[in-house]
Amino acid sequence: MSVGFGGDFKEQVRAATNLVDVVSDTVSLTPIRNGVDYVGLCPFHEDKNPSFHVYPDRQTYRCWVCDTGGDCFRWMMEIEKVTFPEALELLARRANIEIPARPRSEFAQKVEHNKVNQYEIVEWAIKLMEQAYQSAAADDLVKQYVGQRNLSEETIRRFRIGYHPENWNWLLNKARGKFSEKQLQSVGLVTERDNGDGYFDNLVGRLIFPIIDERGRAVAFGGRVLPGSNIESPAKYWNSPESNIFLKRRTLYAFDQARDAIRTSKEAIVVEGYMDCIACHQAGMSNVVATLGTALTEDHVKFLKRFAERTVLLFDGDKAGIAAAEKSIGRFLAEDLDLRILTLSEGEDPADYLEKHTKEDFQALIKSAPEAWEYKLQSVTDRYGFDSVSGRQQIMNQMMDFLAAAKGLQGTFREDLILRNVCQRIQIDETNARKQLFELRNKPAFPSYIRQDEPEVPVEVRKVFRGCDLAERELLEIILSQPDTTEYIRYQIGPGDFDNDQHRQLLELCFDLVAEEGILPEPQNVIAAAESDGRMINLINALLDAAREKGISDLMNELPLDYEDGDGAFVPPHLERVLRPLILRRAKNQIMLSKQRMAQTQTSTSELHSDTMEALRRIEKSRKNEMGNPSSTK
Ligand code: UTP
Ligand code: MN
Repeated sequence: MSVGFGGDFKEQVRAATNLVDVVSDTVSLTPIRNGVDYVGLCPFHEDKNPSFHVYPDRQTYRCWVCDTGGDCFRWMMEIEKVTFPEALELLARRANIEIPARPRSEFAQKVEHNKVNQYEIVEWAIKLMEQAYQSAAADDLVKQYVGQRNLSEETIRRFRIGYHPENWNWLLNKARGKFSEKQLQSVGLVTERDNGDGYFDNLVGRLIFPIIDERGRAVAFGGRVLPGSNIESPAKYWNSPESNIFLKRRTLYAFDQARDAIRTSKEAIVVEGYMDCIACHQAGMSNVVATLGTALTEDHVKFLKRFAERTVLLFDGDKAGIAAAEKSIGRFLAEDLDLRILTLSEGEDPADYLEKHTKEDFQALIKSAPEAWEYKLQSVTDRYGFDSVSGRQQIMNQMMDFLAAAKGLQGTFREDLILRNVCQRIQIDETNARKQLFELRNKPAFPSYIRQDEPEVPVEVRKVFRGCDLAERELLEIILSQPDTTEYIRYQIGPGDFDNDQHRQLLELCFDLVAEEGILPEPQNVIAAAESDGRMINLINALLDAAREKGISDLMNELPLDYEDGDGAFVPPHLERVLRPLILRRAKNQIMLSKQRMAQTQTSTSELHSDTMEALRRIEKSRKNEMGNPSSTK
């Protein structure tokens, strides 16, 4: 267990907490038997008669009907949908108990310190941009545009919409004496000029959509070009690059606003655009979030599953939207999640839809959204036609390919159910279908460095992939032998960036320990979490041996060549060396995928532009030894 945050502190918080008070924040409780018990309506099921009991003497609760129960920590985790460490922190705050800092290595402390600063900078910039919007004249282009889009005053305040004036040094000037250029750069507010001659503001002349994380902290920005402004840009939206405090694959726009509604409706609706998301909220649909110019990721899904039983992916009715829908369903088919897919009609996005229809129409449409497999079936049926024999054969082939490609579906109850439904619908024999599926799955597999759900990868990129096997191992060595680097690493690289299946699983295990349980991936914790998986434990042992042999703690304490006293924190050169090829591979991968996406779906060049730019920026940063380098807070 992690020290400091562990046992003693937990008991101290428990002792200072009165469960009756805490529960009363959510449930109206009535004392019975002279206050020996309290009862109320159970928040975990549709309760008609009060069947939810709180026992003050035991400091526990239990529902007699749905049989949920627990202590104060369990309560916070269930009601607030937070992890244990977050529950502990919330209850400590409530009881005014100071939260002990975890003892951490110097490197980890500096990273933490750096993050605190980064939140501050983003918040500072948002306030300025909100003010700039508010103080713009009514006939100003930005206000006219917002007026055209029918955003209300309340919406503007709630989503903290702002404006960056048409001045390439506006934030740079405002930051003088407060934050350095490097600090502004570390949260993506400014970019260094190519000729090395200073910096310029990134969001110039754009309407600003602040991106707030699930804990309510501002972490990044999206900025929209205003039609008719002096700023010409190939990218309609400019989004902050990823940073130490901002991960696109984990962040959902407006989640902080949607949290309660998602929890109570047990349904999350995911749209593609900022504007769409805001339009939905303004229309009174509050369980809506948006991805940030990327496809929905496994991290997103895992996160949403904590709150929602059902997720509806709502795509624009354009080519890119339909392609995105098709791509998403395959990936999540094996997930134990009620996933529905809806694409709007030709050329329409949710914001457009709401201009022409009522909220009730929209809700009815969403209610009618088919399950993922059904969506696929509908779209192949539309394509091949059900009437001819060859059409039906095509439909069948496509559906079997689709099912065979879904990782993790094989042999599950879910697969049975889907297969049965599909066979019924296209009126084919289930035994035949099973045989075909079996044969498809036993075809020679793709080499492991090519993910099956991604398009074919050109040869030159594959070479880069293979060279990374060692880097993957070395990164895991670092995590296992210096667990407090994990938090930093997690913001640089994700499990999806690993190609070796076993390495990926281990990385995910380590990250989950930190993200979900708040414990460091020390060897004994990781081994416990590996649940007696022999292969995994062998890998862990091999990595730890290798780390010891190469004297990893000395390696990690090496100073960078250009280190000068007083430089503050730095990324250990060894970590930097290990991360670089992995980040480079990801960047190459991204460029390749966006090129392919563009070829397949004729996605607008602007989208390619922003993806590519971001990938290149990462390579550049990694080369310059500035990959979220904490020394930027000098
Ligand atoms: P859309 O083009 O559908 O934008 O892109 P939108 O949000 O509906 O905005 P309006 O209605 O045209 O004003 C959907 C999302 O894709 C990302 C953004 O996150 C956007 O909200 N995107 C789009 C980019 O990141 N860059 C771009 O150049 C375009
Ligand atoms: Mn849109």
